[in-house]
Amino acid sequence: MSDTEIKKGLAGVVVDETAISKVNPETNSLLYRGYPVQELAATQPFEAVAYLLWHGELPSAGQLAEFEQRERSLRSLDPRTLQLLDAMPADAHPMDLVRTAVSQLGAFDGTLHEANGWTDRTLDLGRAEYLFAQLPTIVAAVQRRRRGLPLIAPRDDLDYSRNFLWMTFGELPSDAAVDVFRVSLVLYAEHSFNASTFTARVIASTTSDMYSAVVGAVGALKGPLHGGANEAVMHVLEEIGRAENVVPWLDAAIAEKRKIMGFGHRVYKHGDSRVPTMHAALQVLLEESGRRDLADLYAVLEAEFVARKGIYPNLDYPSGPAYHLLGFDTEIFTPIFVAARVTGWTAHIMEQSASNALIRPLSAYNGAEERHVP
Ligand code: CMC
Repeated sequence: MSDTEIKKGLAGVVVDETAISKVNPETNSLLYRGYPVQELAATQPFEAVAYLLWHGELPSAGQLAEFEQRERSLRSLDPRTLQLLDAMPADAHPMDLVRTAVSQLGAFDGTLHEANGWTDRTLDLGRAEYLFAQLPTIVAAVQRRRRGLPLIAPRDDLDYSRNFLWMTFGELPSDAAVDVFRVSLVLYAEHSFNASTFTARVIASTTSDMYSAVVGAVGALKGPLHGGANEAVMHVLEEIGRAENVVPWLDAAIAEKRKIMGFGHRVYKHGDSRVPTMHAALQVLLEESGRRDLADLYAVLEAEFVARKGIYPNLDYPSGPAYHLLGFDTEIFTPIFVAARVTGWTAHIMEQSASNALIRPLSAYNGAEERHVP
């Protein structure tokens, strides 16, 4: 055994600098390029937040209008993406479909095939915008396909959030509900060196291409310890069923040492900076829907678990039921997270590429001593 100190899970290890976001667990704050995420959620369209993450500054009115126009022009899917989705097993998980579709987008990008094409980093901003514009159309197509419904083409008279909901449901909810969706996207957009972003940076550090890095990030996000938790929260709420069942359910879950999805965080130990904003957004939907049963279940589970374990909810706890109330299938929650987080991932891929060092840590070997074939 080596006496090297092992930082399992890289916990507490600072591996690089970033100017994209700052997570401060002491003050429970999260800044995107210096702006508190709560302020951005209260005031900015999601398109402006994407622009901020990529460019480092909020867009002027002219820059935003120009970006919005470009984004709207990039929304339609290549028919081969629809063929690809149709070729997938009907019961495949939506995250597998989204991961595969992103991979296909890489194959469509002709600039990758040119000599030195994928290492031409001047093209990465355009690739980030393309992924940003395509993902809602892919996610909406996956949702409608699951329900056996005809696909709905993007509308270029609608902003990002409205168009996403339009393509998914064929109708628009109230303005208040649209705003809840927009807020969730802003809160999900970026969170420093989380597992999926770090995965993207590892792949980018080999000077691989942006799509490959995003495919890897989607794979990392799928796990329930990370993005898959928003889906898992809904399964937990459905398993418990009603507020009256929380206490016996928690007794059993804690006795079995089960992880309760939507609670706990590697960095925040006293509460997730994004939760109060998303919690308030969820209340709007609970109120609008009249779902007192879900409101009670949500509140009682939180209160009981915090009281017993001192472990606080993370963003996935309020966002899971919010997506449910907006009408999405539970398996679509993490794909929505992909559509939001692709902004942060691509900003990090560009930052990694701009001052690259191959990410290649060491390991302490603990296997058999040298031996020889008899
Ligand atoms: N339910 C029950 N116990 C928990 C939970 C939980 N959700 N989270 C932490 N603990 C306990 C854990 O069992 C351990 O106890 P002990 O020391 O007695 O073994 C202690 O708290 C420390 O937990 P850990 O798993 O070693 O800490 P970590 O920093 O590696 O975990 C985490 C962070 C997010 C993986 C973990 O809290 C967890 O599994 N939560 C549930 C999944 C979840 O909600 N993930 C979303 C994360 S945030 C948003 C996102 O990325 O999508």
